[in-house]
Amino acid sequence: MTEPKFSQQQREQPEPSEGNRPVPKLVLTIIVGLFIWAVYYLYATYSPMPPSLGDNRVAADFAVPALADGGQLYTANCVACHQASGKGLPGVFPPLSGSEWVSAEDPGVMIKIVLHGVQGPLTVEGAKYEGLMPHFHDKLSDEEMAALVNHVRTSFGNSASTTDAKYVAQIREETKGQATPWKGDEDLRPLLEQ
Ligand code: HEC
Repeated sequence: MTEPKFSQQQREQPEPSEGNRPVPKLVLTIIVGLFIWAVYYLYATYSPMPPSLGDNRVAADFAVPALADGGQLYTANCVACHQASGKGLPGVFPPLSGSEWVSAEDPGVMIKIVLHGVQGPLTVEGAKYEGLMPHFHDKLSDEEMAALVNHVRTSFGNSASTTDAKYVAQIREETKGQATPWKGDEDLRPLLEQ
């Protein structure tokens, strides 16, 4: 009568249960070790990003440098006297259109006039003027002066050669001792004969 009992026992194995350590100790140790190392690594190598690495560009960095606009500079600085037509006012303001001073072969003549101004009798296209032409050496940069001179020398029917900021800088340097306006024909006429 024992046999059935035995076979019954044999059939009724204890319920399989999960081991309480399914992960081998060695693997656990490695994982914990890696975790501690990772935390240490983050701590040891932490460095806040310097702001210089960021995008510190401002709107101005994207702006195309404004090119001096001779026409605009003429309107802002010269129109009041020499008029939009460049023909001036007879007897008061001399014309820039057709003027021997404007269209002189050397653009330096006009640069000198605009840098330092003129006071005293000045003959333009055969007519005498005796007014005051203000100076612009402290109002216009070399680039602006070049753009303005180029505009006048190629507008109002003029078709003289153009110049650049480098030449203006050179004339500015050469004439930096000029503290008063040029004395009309007396100072300027010789420049045309050079
Ligand atoms: C306040 C009035 C006034 C303004 C502004 C003025 N000018 Fe004149 N300009 C004169 C007068 C007046 C003369 C003649 C000076 C004289 O009689 O001695 C003159 C003479 C000149 C001459 C030599 C003569 C000729 O007609 O070619 C040039 C070139 C000239 N000006 C260019 C300019 C330019 C360029 C500007 C602007 C940047 C300018 N002027 C602004 C009044 C002015």
